Amino acid sequence: KEVAHKQMYEAHEFAANFYNHLLLNTVEGEKAYQYLEQRGFTRENIEKYNIGWALDDWEALSSLLQRQGFDMNEMEQAGLVIQRDNGTGFFDRFRGRVMFPLYDDHGTIVGFSGRVLEKSDKEAKYLNSPETPIFEKGRLLYNFHRARLNVRKKGNVIVFEGFMDTLTADRHGLENTVAVMGTALSDTQLIKLKRITNDLIICCDGDNAGWEASKRFAELVMQKGFSLKIAVLPNKMDPDDYISENGIEAFQEKIINRPHTYMSFILAYAKKSKNLSHENDVLQYIHEVMEELSGGLTPVEKDMMLRQLSMDTNVSVDALEQQYAKAA
Ligand code: GTP
Ligand code: MN
Ligand code: MN
Ligand code: MN
Ligand code: MN
Repeated sequence: KEVAHKQMYEAHEFAANFYNHLLLNTVEGEKAYQYLEQRGFTRENIEKYNIGWALDDWEALSSLLQRQGFDMNEMEQAGLVIQRDNGTGFFDRFRGRVMFPLYDDHGTIVGFSGRVLEKSDKEAKYLNSPETPIFEKGRLLYNFHRARLNVRKKGNVIVFEGFMDTLTADRHGLENTVAVMGTALSDTQLIKLKRITNDLIICCDGDNAGWEASKRFAELVMQKGFSLKIAVLPNKMDPDDYISENGIEAFQEKIINRPHTYMSFILAYAKKSKNLSHENDVLQYIHEVMEELSGGLTPVEKDMMLRQLSMDTNVSVDALEQQYAKAA
């Protein structure tokens, strides 16, 4: 029986090897190689993840695919090339980008994310493959195929926002991490994870977007019945930055092993945007925490929450408890 979309899979494998060859063995790939080296990747790492370089050229890949006999309309459906407006021929979707293959759960390449060497206002930092018959962005969990066994062994999974974070963790030997593709955490992804573990640690970037993402992710993770922890990073750092700067042991000990529970995360989240020497902010802080935590706390958690609030605000536990009873 024929595999559906066989050519699409084959073309991705072919393209990844082509990009990887350009990165490792050509003059045109040197700048990208240096870029990756600066970010801590060794030659061995680049080979392991099959990272590559797409030439800054309109037809490098498409002319090669054509010569290999791939059906070019199917290559367009696969997201690798784009048909010219006048209908004569195809050009490369990915040009002048560092190419990271995206693997499905079987370890088969189904798409790419390409990064520019230098951030600019002109172009998006990352360009992903479009949705295709073999690639659905919202379903793909980056690194799942590689992490699966390690997640079972360790008994937990760490979820990052960016696949770069996962690559950096993996090459430092932390192998139970996955990343979303810059999207919401989907039901499909959570169901996949639930089959192999009940313990999930969210670890998003330490910027505002990361805190917001943590909160959104946390709600979905709890709905699925995981035991949830939320690790947070110092201001403006992401897991990749932290590991590169401080090493994997520090990341493990200071970030992953000292996570927030949902309750303490909500307290930290609400407090972050407040100046508690202003009465208005104090009231707002109390209000937000009580709204967010208005159900589902155990008596012990409720006690801890009220005492923390009382310490932060100098409002008596008694008064807070009365207010909480009204909010619930
Ligand atoms: P580096 O700057 O290379 O370290 O990337 P990062 O991993 O820190 O990425 P960032 O925190 O900016 O974004 C997290 C994720 O969002 C990335 O892994 C991408 O999947 C996605 N993302 C970020 N920027 C873009 C973009 O310009 N376009 C698209 N499509 N996705 C993006
Ligand atoms: Mn199909
Ligand atoms: Mn970010
Ligand atoms: Mn980041
Ligand atoms: Mn980063």
